[in-house]
Amino acid sequence: MTDPVVIAVDGPAASGKGTLARRLAAELGYAYLDTGLLYRAVGLALIRAGLSPADQKAAIHAAAVFDAAAEDFSDPALRNEETGAAAGIVAVIPAVRDALIGVQRRFAANPPGGAPGAVLDGRDIGTVICPDADYKLFVEADIEERARRRVKELQDRGDAVIPARVLKEMKERDERDRTRAVAPLAPAADASVVNTTNLNADAAFALAMSLIR
Ligand code: DC
Repeated sequence: MTDPVVIAVDGPAASGKGTLARRLAAELGYAYLDTGLLYRAVGLALIRAGLSPADQKAAIHAAAVFDAAAEDFSDPALRNEETGAAAGIVAVIPAVRDALIGVQRRFAANPPGGAPGAVLDGRDIGTVICPDADYKLFVEADIEERARRRVKELQDRGDAVIPARVLKEMKERDERDRTRAVAPLAPAADASVVNTTNLNADAAFALAMSLIR
């Protein structure tokens, strides 16, 4: 048995990393993990318990008891803006991050379904979770473009949107992700940067495949 191939895809919110990572996994027949959902699940657990995401003790407890096998990752509440903001808040807590390392590394080492590889997308996959990943992509785009994409995504879902507010919240989340003490969002030294500001999903995918092949 050869070790599974691991592809790390990191980047800020709405950079296109999720779309790209999912498509790479489908193309290559690899398993896919959106690691943001793990932080979102912890944030949502606090919201549903009526607690503040800034409640460190509760967040650490929620991360410690998090059971990926029992989680319903199709719950739409995981993907809303409130949960995303809560995820960004719990994600700065070192003990929360530590509690979620195991599930991510196990996924990379033993991709579900016996897949020959795994694609993980997040903020710190290439730097902290899988520093020995076979391929590392850092996907980014200008913040105005990312905010525009998020507005469209929310509108397509039928949510009421205030574009200026989406931009403001995205700036706040970027700041929190990039400046936190533990595992801040940053490209690994050996990552290839894919800037999607002027690329559609097909072009970003073609570029990523050319970097991998
Ligand atoms: O990618 P996303 O919007 O689902 O991520 C939600 C939050 O979780 C984001 O603010 C940063 C955090 N996160 C993280 O710190 N590390 C990861 N590997 C994935 C997400």
